[in-house]
Amino acid sequence: SIRAGIKEICSDLHISNEQAHLVRKSMSLALEQGLNHPGSSSVKCLPTFVRNMPSGQEKGKYLALDLGGTNFRVLVVELFGSPQKQPLITVRKYPIPVEVRSGSGEQLFDHIASSIMNFLSEIHLNPDNLALGFTFSFPCEQSKLTSAKLTQWTKGFSCSGVVGEDICTLLRASLDKQGLEGIRICALLNDTTGCLLSCSLRESRCQVGLIVGTGCNACYVENCQNIKALPDELEGDMVVNTEWGAFGELGELDFIRTKWDRVVDQESINPGKQIFEKMISGMYLGALVRQVLLELVSQGSLFQGVNHQRLICCQDAFETRHICEVENDPLGENDRCRMAMTEVLGHSQIISPTDCYAIRLVCEEVSRRACMVLAAGVAGLLRRLHLKDAVIAVDGTLIRCHPLFTLIMSKKITQLMGEGYKFELRLARDGSGLGAAIMAAVQAKSNE
Ligand code: BG6
Ligand code: GLC
Repeated sequence: SIRAGIKEICSDLHISNEQAHLVRKSMSLALEQGLNHPGSSSVKCLPTFVRNMPSGQEKGKYLALDLGGTNFRVLVVELFGSPQKQPLITVRKYPIPVEVRSGSGEQLFDHIASSIMNFLSEIHLNPDNLALGFTFSFPCEQSKLTSAKLTQWTKGFSCSGVVGEDICTLLRASLDKQGLEGIRICALLNDTTGCLLSCSLRESRCQVGLIVGTGCNACYVENCQNIKALPDELEGDMVVNTEWGAFGELGELDFIRTKWDRVVDQESINPGKQIFEKMISGMYLGALVRQVLLELVSQGSLFQGVNHQRLICCQDAFETRHICEVENDPLGENDRCRMAMTEVLGHSQIISPTDCYAIRLVCEEVSRRACMVLAAGVAGLLRRLHLKDAVIAVDGTLIRCHPLFTLIMSKKITQLMGEGYKFELRLARDGSGLGAAIMAAVQAKSNE
């Protein structure tokens, strides 16, 4: 039957238990290698220079920027010096136009500075002597908290003249141009670190930060002695930004990649890069579903008599939010699926129950595989940490909006870890901006 044929095609997306264990082991190795010889690992394990977890005593008003996820945000965060009293957050989103994402670096940072200007005047806050924390969610080589060179763009950004440059210097120049000399840049951090910090404000056991959104990445607390990139005399702990989205760049995932993965990779702006991320995160899952659907179309098992021109022509016709919509349909119902497809196809011609079945199955298989591969990564990290009782701070649009992502992933982590390990996933909603403000507070205090 048609349905059996569709299932057969999707079976390429299945990850066996054995394969999941192989991914787990190989992730552990890549993390180890990243700490010891970052040059020869796909997983770079970048030092963040975040060494102190917040004490909860941080106080005052701080400015924060949050760039690299779905929305660029400017925030003012007021901290009250007690873990019991919730921080007060005022936030505005500023869209980053596509031209700016792929324009010049100067344009990007000018856009950021003018958004700050606009925000501060809107909330009537005086920009003199404000401490700023900057969540910049891209891989950076840091030499201190306020010095971070971008190693490469990820997630669809490609501004010129930024790779290899110091992000804080570029931001400084644009702030000065706007007359915002009074803003002090105190810390630059990754969104995973921001997420971890905001969670650890209330939960001191939190040791891992995980983002499953536009991109996918994790950070964790490591002993400085184990981070070879650091000078020997450093003691104590430091947050390590794994940048594990790049896992697979040395072929580690080739044994589970499909032809659809290869097409999505080739059609992206960074072919050959971020292979793990491309199997998991929100920027790519929709594109994967589109590829599988196109195969079903070419076999004649989908959209017979239904205009599907838009799916063929438009590379991002199928977005990850559509996957979430489709999987939100109660079993046996197709309302959300049909609504999503109205957007995807650009018309409201009714699609058949078999088409709905196929679309749902493909969405489920693609997102299920993402959960499996990610769970293998998480288990690889927890095992290397020998963490028997881990608290993992998580955030990101995909993990927040997908109805089953957390559940399926947790089950798989449990299974891959085996006896004796406990872990808990804690949602730190929009935590990265808050984390940046907390870090600015910690720094502003230690600079006093
Ligand atoms: C939030 C942050 O924690 O999650 C963002 O505040 C971050 O900066 C984001 O990048 C990840 O989610 P998404 O889905 O927006 O990429
Ligand atoms: C990409 C970025 C990484 C970020 C992640 C989640 O993988 O390279 O820095 O943490 O996306 O936003």
